[in-house]
Order: sequence, then C-alpha cells, then structure tokens
Amino acid sequence: MAKSHPANLKPATALAHPNIAFIKYWGNRDDALRLPLTGSISMNLSGLETITTVVPDRRLKADRLTLGGVSQTGAAFERVSRFLDQVRRLANSVVFARVTSANNFPAGAGIASSASAFAALALAASKAYALDLPEASLSSLARLGSGSASRSIPDGFVEWKPGETHAESYAWSIAPPEHWELVDLIVILDQTHKITGSSDGHKLAHTSPLNAERIAAVPGRLDVCRQAILQCDFQALAEVTEADSEHMHAVMRTSTPSLIYQTKLTLDILAQIKSWRDQGCAVCATVDAGPNVHVIAEKKDGQKALSRLRQIEGVLDVLVSAPSPGARLI
Ligand code: PMV
Repeated sequence: MAKSHPANLKPATALAHPNIAFIKYWGNRDDALRLPLTGSISMNLSGLETITTVVPDRRLKADRLTLGGVSQTGAAFERVSRFLDQVRRLANSVVFARVTSANNFPAGAGIASSASAFAALALAASKAYALDLPEASLSSLARLGSGSASRSIPDGFVEWKPGETHAESYAWSIAPPEHWELVDLIVILDQTHKITGSSDGHKLAHTSPLNAERIAAVPGRLDVCRQAILQCDFQALAEVTEADSEHMHAVMRTSTPSLIYQTKLTLDILAQIKSWRDQGCAVCATVDAGPNVHVIAEKKDGQKALSRLRQIEGVLDVLVSAPSPGARLI
C-alpha cells in the first residue's frame, strides 16, 4: 500500500450519489469490517448528491466535521473521525482534517444518505492524504464507513461481492449508466430520521428465523438480477427486485426486536404498483430501511407513473432520478 508523504497532504473535494439496491444488503458476517452476509446489486442515482471536502491541517488537535453547515460533535462526528483514522493508518499520517459535507436531499429517510456520504468521504479523504487507490480498494475503504457506500464508488449498475476479507469485499460496475434508461421515482412519505439506523438494524438480521432462507436465496437472485440488467429485461428485474425487498422486510419484521420501517401508506403504494404492472406499465417497487418507496420504471412509462404517484394522498414529494456515474473528484 502506497504511503503518503506529509508534504503531499492537500485539500480535496468529491461528489457521490446514493444508490438504490435491487438485491439488498441486510446483515453482516463481520460488523466491524461491514463484511455482508450476501452480495447485492444496485444502481447509482443521478441528481441526488453529497459533496464533501477534506482539508488536512497540521494545526488541528482533532478532526472537525460540518454537515449541511452545522458543526457536529456527537455520533456522526465519531463515525467520520473513526473513518479518517483508517485513512490515516493507510497513509501513515497523524494529521487531523476539517471535513465539510452537504447533501441536496433529505438524510435518514430511506435514501441511503450514508452511501453517498461515505463514498464521497472515501474519495476526498484518500486524495487529501495522497493515497492513490484503485477503484476496488476505494470501494472497500468506503465500505468501512457504510456497507452500501462501497456500491456508490463504481459507475452505473453495480454489484458488491461479500468477500471473506476486507480487500475481497468490494463493488464493481456491471453496466454503465447509459446502458438502460430506467428511472427511480423516489416517493417521499416521511422526511424524519429513521428510528433504528441501518448500522444497528444489520446486527438484528441474525435474530430472524427467515434470515438463513434469505441468505440461501440471494445468490440465485443476484444471477437473475445481473442477467436482467445485462439484457434490459424489465419483467425479470421487477419480479426479483420486489421478491428481495419483501424478503428483506420480512427478515426485519421477524427480528428481535422487530423492525418495522414500512407504514400503511408504503404498503398501499406497493399494492398499487403491482396492479399498474399487471395493467402493462413497466414499474416495480423497492423499499430500504425507511417508509419511502422507490418506484423503478422504464423511462417510457416514468411520466405516467410520476403523475399517478403525485396524486396519491399523503405523498409529500416524488424525486425523479436515473442511473448515474459513481464517485468523482470535483
Ligand atoms: O449501508 P447501510 O448500512 O446504510 O445499509 C443499507 C441497507 C439497505 O439500504 C436497507 C439495503 C441496501 O442494500 O442498500
């Protein structure tokens, strides 16, 4: 691993997008390293962005973190500072840094803000500390901050393999963003911060009697999903995406304690999406660790689905996104 020379420390700014998983990551076999129980497949989301600047500064006695203009001291600060410790260890540096980060979308509402946050931080920090990491190593590094962040490093449609070690667990692009004109209509039902964050939620997966079954089912689903993406087969993508989202939420609900992220409105919308598909509209739905619904559609059907979704009572907003590149320096 290349060590950085102290003289090479310099400010760096990176941009990353969140991603939506078709086959989900839920549960770790190693919580500290965030080595997942299964592989997962996702798509990066255009228009939604985290921009993060890292400025190493020899005068600092500790790291500093500002999120959305607000200086942080609690759990968010600790998580970022622990992450920077890993970067410093790789770079053989003891210099603290000022980190400034902002999202253009609401955090903590099932739009996986930690994915774009740690992907942008991994890229900005690795450059700021003069580490020249190949994409796979950068993806592994981002994973240490948030598992799904590993998938926000490569471009477009992305697969993350679980791996047995830190270096083996990384994501790569299976198709570029322009490969398939999909849209993700992100139906916002609630903008508040979720009660149980995913880092704590992952630890409960083992307590569900349905978890072993899901771990056994996911490798087959990954094959179906990868093929569906490569062949732009929407019906196959829809079925496997909905099956895996339902299975993950069944694991969540049957954990001890039970995790219930979906509301009555979430379930109503999921039922409506299925009936729209039965009527010939190329749409399907998936839900992360929050109440909001990600409605995936082929671009040709996106506008119709969008106007229908906007008419549903209780829908606060619908964000429109499409496949995007991965993390990049700006
Ligand atoms: O990366 P985390 O710890 O925020 O976990 C993400 C978990 C889900 O969003 C529910 C699923 C996924 O694969 O993105």
